[in-house]
Amino acid sequence: MSSTILFFCIVATAVTAAAPPPTTTSFNVTASDDDTYWSERAAEASETNRAAYVSVPITAMNRFNAETLRTTSRRSLRGRYRGPCMATNPIDRCWRCRSDWSTDRQRLAQCARGFGHGTTGGAAGKDYVVTDASDDEMVIPKKGTLRYGVIQGRPLWIVFARDMIVRLTQELIVSANKTIDGRGANVHIVGAQITLQSVSNVIVHGVHIHHSAPHSGGMIRDSKKHYGFRTRSDGDGISVLSSSNIWIDHVSMYNCSDGLIDVVSGSTAITVSNSHFTKHDHVLLFGASNDNPQDASMQVTVAFNHFGKGLVQRMPRCRYGFFHVVNNDYTHWQMYAIGGNKNPTIISQGNRFIAPDDPNAKENERKYDQLDFIPARHGSYVGQLTKFAGALKCRVGQPC
Ligand SMILES: *[C@@H]1O[C@H](CO)[C@@H](O)[C@H](O)[C@H]1NC(C)=O
Ligand SMILES: *[C@@H]1O[C@H](CO)[C@@H](O)[C@H](O)[C@H]1NC(C)=O
Ligand SMILES: *[C@@H]1O[C@H](CO)[C@@H](O)[C@H](O)[C@H]1NC(C)=O
Repeated sequence: MSSTILFFCIVATAVTAAAPPPTTTSFNVTASDDDTYWSERAAEASETNRAAYVSVPITAMNRFNAETLRTTSRRSLRGRYRGPCMATNPIDRCWRCRSDWSTDRQRLAQCARGFGHGTTGGAAGKDYVVTDASDDEMVIPKKGTLRYGVIQGRPLWIVFARDMIVRLTQELIVSANKTIDGRGANVHIVGAQITLQSVSNVIVHGVHIHHSAPHSGGMIRDSKKHYGFRTRSDGDGISVLSSSNIWIDHVSMYNCSDGLIDVVSGSTAITVSNSHFTKHDHVLLFGASNDNPQDASMQVTVAFNHFGKGLVQRMPRCRYGFFHVVNNDYTHWQMYAIGGNKNPTIISQGNRFIAPDDPNAKENERKYDQLDFIPARHGSYVGQLTKFAGALKCRVGQPC
């Protein structure tokens, strides 16, 4: 399997490197030009990121908690649920049980909560329908592919025509103001990572992301106006670098080569919610290095997720920033669940930890500072709050 992916990767790189430049733009691309390009993009993004950063994160956190308290009631939900649609947390309550979700997809743009609450993705843009699961052209992506949609310069709400497995040949570099919305189809994005670098306002919703592998890089288009040489990608599930207003919701993620979600380089205003993580070692990494004090501006909410079977550590592992880890269900972990160093502020509230059988592994939280806060929903509600974590099976015309 991995040798097949690698084989295609080499072929694709050779072909695209030899391809003529697109007619719309002509660039003089060298590796050093691209260093300049990406450092300019990072400098521009840092302005946007600064604007998205909140100076009093406790207020934002309390707002999240107050809404969760107000809108959650205790109901017992044991076993597999087959009843009518039930939205069990404030994010889901915003859209899930409406039967018009497929004709009013952009309603989701009002539903983000936590630090990523301002994320509207491709709202106000048109729908773009992915009809072609292939990913062969890195520099001039084919119309109808996912890659063609994500590099467009305008806001787009990206949906899928049918069930499909999108096998990425190289990292998928997503531009600003996009929603990837898998509702209504069984969509798997595999083979390489999704990269959000120096962008703002991206929603990833309702897809399965797994078996992302490292790739050697090559010429890849990152936006309508630019393509250039990319060095190796690590094989994360989603890699977020110097970006803001990112919302990852109802995503099922497992078995990628590196982290499932990495958030680095001062990225901020991020929510990871309602997602289901399984079969992985390094799950969520927020801040990659002790040498990046700019990560003090990271503000991330991790809420209503289910950390399930086959996980080992980093759920999340945090450096420097402010992290609200609230009402998540931790049913399996081998080493530790929440960890941090370099003075992160990690507010862990109302999470449920079901300790693994291995007595050496019952360290569920590594050291963190405690602040005053109002409580989120008590941990006993967590089974309910996270009951529907992961990609949902939504049918057109019916509530999800
Ligand atoms: C690339 O840029 C360099 C420096 O600006 C220039 O000397 C060279 O001719 C350019 N090459 C192409 C193919 O445009
Ligand atoms: C994204 O949308 C916002 C709001 O419409 C706009 O100000 C911004 O320029 C857009 N970003 C890009 C990179 O197009
Ligand atoms: C993850 O995928 C790789 C490659 O397909 C496979 O070899 C490995 O066993 C998988 N790991 C788990 C934990 O499922």
